[in-house]
Amino acid sequence: MQQGQPMIVMSEDSQRVKDKDAQDYNISAARAVAESVKSTLGPKGMDKMLVDSMGSVTITNDGVTILQEMDIDNPTAEMIIEVAETQEDEAGDGTTTAVSIAGELLKNAEDLIEQDIHPTAIIKGFHMASEQAREEINDIATEVDTEDEDLLRSVAETSMTGKGTEVNKEHLAELIVEAIRQVTVEDDEGNNVVDLEFLNIETQTGHSTGESDLLEGGIVDKDPVHDNMPTEAQDADILLLNEPIEVEETDIDTEVSVTDPDQLQQFLDREEKQLQEKVEQIADLGADVVLCQKGIDDLAQHYLAKEGILAVRRAKKSDLEFLSEVVNAAIVSDLGSATAADLGHGDLTRDDEDELFYVEGEDAHGVTLLLRGSTDHVVDELERGVNDALDVVAQTVSDGRVLAGGGAIEVELASRLRDYADSVSGREQLAVEAFADSLELVPRVLAENAGLDSIDTLVDLRAAHDEGDVEAGLNVFTGDIEDTNETGVVEPAHAKEQAVTSAAEAANLVLKIDDIISAGDLSTDKGDDEGGAPGAGGMGGMGGGMGGMM
Ligand SMILES: Nc1ncnc2c1ncn2[C@@H]1O[C@H](COP(=O)(O)OP(=O)(O)OP(=O)(O)O)[C@@H](O)[C@H]1O
Ligand SMILES: [Mg+2]
Repeated sequence: MQQGQPMIVMSEDSQRVKDKDAQDYNISAARAVAESVKSTLGPKGMDKMLVDSMGSVTITNDGVTILQEMDIDNPTAEMIIEVAETQEDEAGDGTTTAVSIAGELLKNAEDLIEQDIHPTAIIKGFHMASEQAREEINDIATEVDTEDEDLLRSVAETSMTGKGTEVNKEHLAELIVEAIRQVTVEDDEGNNVVDLEFLNIETQTGHSTGESDLLEGGIVDKDPVHDNMPTEAQDADILLLNEPIEVEETDIDTEVSVTDPDQLQQFLDREEKQLQEKVEQIADLGADVVLCQKGIDDLAQHYLAKEGILAVRRAKKSDLEFLSEVVNAAIVSDLGSATAADLGHGDLTRDDEDELFYVEGEDAHGVTLLLRGSTDHVVDELERGVNDALDVVAQTVSDGRVLAGGGAIEVELASRLRDYADSVSGREQLAVEAFADSLELVPRVLAENAGLDSIDTLVDLRAAHDEGDVEAGLNVFTGDIEDTNETGVVEPAHAKEQAVTSAAEAANLVLKIDDIISAGDLSTDKGDDEGGAPGAGGMGGMGGGMGGMM
């Protein structure tokens, strides 16, 4: 090889961004994502309306939903979205908090890099601070009685404040706590285990949210297939069927040519016989009720009605799966090999007004939370809010530790981390301090979103904590500083631990990168950002989705 000639190993289309440029690029992408959800944080946070390329609309306050629905097309931004997704999987709530803290950590890291502090020192400091924060959370958290329903309701209400669930939060909190209680069992060691598999959420439009209800067992939102069928069945043997009760069609296209009417009649007779046999098989199994996921032929409907069997067709797959737990039945996919043991046992009652069936198992295993709202958008957002609340109540029941909300925990953590920073030597100390500052983003944004002065609020909160008031938080409705644990603004400790840890890990992941090598334009959405230097204009991929959001 000749001297002095650079060796080209990358293709012509590929792009490479190095060192400071790479850091700038990554940090600004990550911060843009965090920035986009900040305004939804807390009880006074606003909602976002997201319109996808098909024109369908989602209105939500839920951090992870916003990020998933936003058409983000930037590799770094996607790492931050992963933070929200991990938080959603692990804790169910706190996604906005986690992402906002990650963004703030990166913002503060950027300042440190400006001061010539090497990213590895920052990474180490952030890691130490996050470990320390976990310990402190454990120390600050209050152990609670997991049977204390008032407390569990407060946890649910805190999580639902500021969402579509807000107006009916007392009623919903009652339902949620009761639902969780019903699906909680004690394991051999006496620990509470919440099995959310036995909890089903159904939604219905056309009613007010206040009419939401908790039902024992499951529901089937269908009509009987034939008018002459019974509409109720007590002590019934129930068949869950995943096979059509129709004439079996051949896989290949066939054409039957008939030459005289008798042949045609024979042909029809055979079809009729096939259907009759299927219904007989069902009757022989002893089924009083058939809930079928597939179709039921008109003629078969007639035979079933004659046998006095209550049948429903095109039931939802998820409903059948849940009902198989409720009535303890197997889902049969081949009638021929089904036995009586596959049938479940329970009661079906009809709600004529809502046109649905309630299915109750013998020992009422499983509950259904029936959420109601006026329109689809209302119900969807309601469901997201209720899911968050279910998760936090479930965590509190199994973990038993709670923290004071309204920014109380973040300010206390920040103050303890600053003390801890004094014991850290070297440049890492500055990173630990930056970590503490980043946590205080939460009370600042809570105040900001409530139209309060964020600096004043933070100063007051710090003063209260300096005086040893560990649970001093912000009442966003009055602007007062008060003991939020006492006023019932409480959050599960596990969710906060997770938020702090995943925010730190994501920030560190981004900070560790000093070289971006991409096989093409960095934003995969070509055409709308041609030629822009990635450091400054590389956010092009996010431009469309985010431009209107901030
Ligand atoms: N009544 C209240 N007064 C003060 N702060 C509150 C109150 N209710 C909730 N909060 C605070 O609001 C924050 C939670 O806000 P929000 O639910 O919007 O975000 P998140 O839980 O981080 O994310 P998401 O719910 O979108 O997954 C917590 O810090 C909580 O302490
Ligand atoms: Mg929340």
